Amino acid sequence: MMLAEMGIAPLWRLRAPPHAGPIDLPQPGAVESRIEPSAVISPASAIAPARRAPTAVEPDAHGATRPRVPPPLPEDSLVQRAGERRAARAGAAGAGGPPAAVAAMEAGEAQARRQRIMQMGWAELKPAVARCVACGLHLARTQTVFGVGDENADWLFVGEGPGAEEDARGEPFVGQAGRLLDSMLAAIELRRGENVYIANVVKCRPPNNRNPDSGEMSCCEPYLARQIELIGPRLIIALGRVAANHLLQTDASIASLRGRVHQYRSAPLIVTYHPAYLLRSLQEKGKAWVDLCFARSTMDALREGRVTGL
Ligand code: URA
Repeated sequence: MMLAEMGIAPLWRLRAPPHAGPIDLPQPGAVESRIEPSAVISPASAIAPARRAPTAVEPDAHGATRPRVPPPLPEDSLVQRAGERRAARAGAAGAGGPPAAVAAMEAGEAQARRQRIMQMGWAELKPAVARCVACGLHLARTQTVFGVGDENADWLFVGEGPGAEEDARGEPFVGQAGRLLDSMLAAIELRRGENVYIANVVKCRPPNNRNPDSGEMSCCEPYLARQIELIGPRLIIALGRVAANHLLQTDASIASLRGRVHQYRSAPLIVTYHPAYLLRSLQEKGKAWVDLCFARSTMDALREGRVTGL
């Protein structure tokens, strides 16, 4: 109904593939997984181990096993530490420190920052993002856009970064592309916030809606990585090439990444088109519908333990 209101239902329905039978996935890369209709592999052995690895476990509202969130660390003074590091760096450069030494110092700082972020629980991670000044995107933002939804969701949708409306409202995918995303969710009987979490690669709006650059994405990478670890999603859907390339560390095209189950750490990951792209390229909506059906059947297979290779 929602799709019909948008005038795209006939196209999407006509091209919907029947996914009742065996799902035979091509296997061109090591990161892909295979879904087998008859193999019985408990999710505990196929999916959960890496979710569980770092900490003790507890069953969640969806019956899955997820890492228990560690207790919050003392208030993290990221901003203060960034200032101290900048001063130290300026000192090294001013003292004629060689560029390699400065680069090594920066790499060490980035690693230490990542380690601190990867220790955070939700209560510490949210304010850390809100006050982040790690890259230049903070200069033009109205506010950060952390992510929204069920923090124990099975489904995680990842876009690239906030646009103007998201920057104004502090919530991802609330503009025109967001309305299409909501319709895409509804098409596979999902709703924002109900077993669904939505996040972006970068948490601040890139000016003029340009793509985030690699430095901005790597500054934000620990935040998304920690969100994913805390959520422990059964399945990640990468929306568009920026998110897919970032999460899979590739520069492959969307066309070449679609239709297969990839892996982000321990989580299966499927790639589809970004809703903003679909708004410009109506002819691709049929392919997005195919991807959504594939995601739905993959989730069923994951729940039934019919996925091997993860
Ligand atoms: N596009 C994105 O990638 N993310 C948003 O939150 C909004 C638009």
